[in-house]
Amino acid sequence: MNILEIIANKRDKKELTTEEIRYFVKGYTNGEIEDYQAAALIMAIYINGMTNKETTDLTIEMANSGEILDLKDLDKIIVDKHSTGGVGDKVSLILCPLIASLGIKVAKMSGRGLGFTGGTVDKLQSIPGYRTDIPMEEFVGNVKRVGLSMISQTLNLAPADKKIYALRDSISCVESIPLIASSIMSKKIASGANKIVIDVTVGSGAFMNTKSNARKLAKQMIEIGKLAERETVCVLTNMNEPLGYAVGNNIEVIEAVKFLKGNMPEDLKQVVFELANNMIKLSGKSLDDEENKKMILENIKNGKALNKLIEMVKNQNGDASFIEDTDKFKRSEYMEKVVAQKEGYIQSINAKEVGELACYLGAGRIRKSDVIDNTVGIVMNVKVGEKVKKGQPLAIIHANDYEKLNEAKQKLQKIIKVGENNKKKIPAILEIIS
Ligand code: URA
Repeated sequence: MNILEIIANKRDKKELTTEEIRYFVKGYTNGEIEDYQAAALIMAIYINGMTNKETTDLTIEMANSGEILDLKDLDKIIVDKHSTGGVGDKVSLILCPLIASLGIKVAKMSGRGLGFTGGTVDKLQSIPGYRTDIPMEEFVGNVKRVGLSMISQTLNLAPADKKIYALRDSISCVESIPLIASSIMSKKIASGANKIVIDVTVGSGAFMNTKSNARKLAKQMIEIGKLAERETVCVLTNMNEPLGYAVGNNIEVIEAVKFLKGNMPEDLKQVVFELANNMIKLSGKSLDDEENKKMILENIKNGKALNKLIEMVKNQNGDASFIEDTDKFKRSEYMEKVVAQKEGYIQSINAKEVGELACYLGAGRIRKSDVIDNTVGIVMNVKVGEKVKKGQPLAIIHANDYEKLNEAKQKLQKIIKVGENNKKKIPAILEIIS
């Protein structure tokens, strides 16, 4: 067997065997297969797709490319959550402490942002001192003691996915159902959870632009979960406009903290509550939707969810005084409003374009090696469907570069479309698939 034959088979639309997929994953992870050969195969997969068997084989091989964490000592049931990516997606920062505050253990490994989507790790790193990069024993110990730990994917978990994902990102091959399904599920299988809730985002700021593709992706991940004995539930959520109001790093942490203090933007609230409800159900704690929503609200109102975030931050060397008083976070040099040029209704706020603009200001990476500016980004003031008056602020741009600020102002003015149609709001929760 050799890689040229495997590339040719996929190019010619043949189904790859388990052995061929194993050969590729092993060879690419240990450096025997070159980037250009892997790129050719990934592009052939992107164009010709994969059968269910091939996708499952790829998932299992990527999961087995490194360690598989065993968290059984911590609890019989470990629930995990993942998002397929979005703009303004600070859900994990809110959801994980919330779930842990209910006594359900959360061991969360998060990713960095790449391209226009943000990453939880970058947001966590904007809390001074917070360590996302800790050894596995410390991670497991934290989950045992605090009930919660959130770290970066630095452990030797699914290293093949890390390599293939970075390659996909550099050759425009991210938006593929079998590649996304296997990427996410390999990480989830390797990180030890046996119950998984996945937020499958749909819209302009997501990798799945249509509901029907998002449904296919969800079904694929649920199928893989079944074969790997990981019960998986997918919640399809709207990502046509940024989630909540803030898009950036420390400004998203501030929004997440405010949420845990009771200031909950409606779309973000719906997403957090629905994902939390499904995590609670999978944990076996309670199967009653209404009861669960009451518990969630209760732990926000009584401060337990916020206290869990503070406990986790302290436990990982972060300065929790920033969570207690978010005014302590460093702000960007410039904070300038973009105002409505006319009266009307907000027609659309293209999430991908907002994400790209935040990246341009320095909130994300264009290349993997780029250094992130924690303070920059965009805080929206409006949502789609809202009525606005001429001169009303639509958003505030946070920038540290005067030229970029001015360019961003012009671009954002075009991205936030104001028109006469009384636009209906798109619901935040589109569908639940289990
Ligand atoms: N998130 C992942 O972890 N992998 C993908 O391929 C896309 C989103």
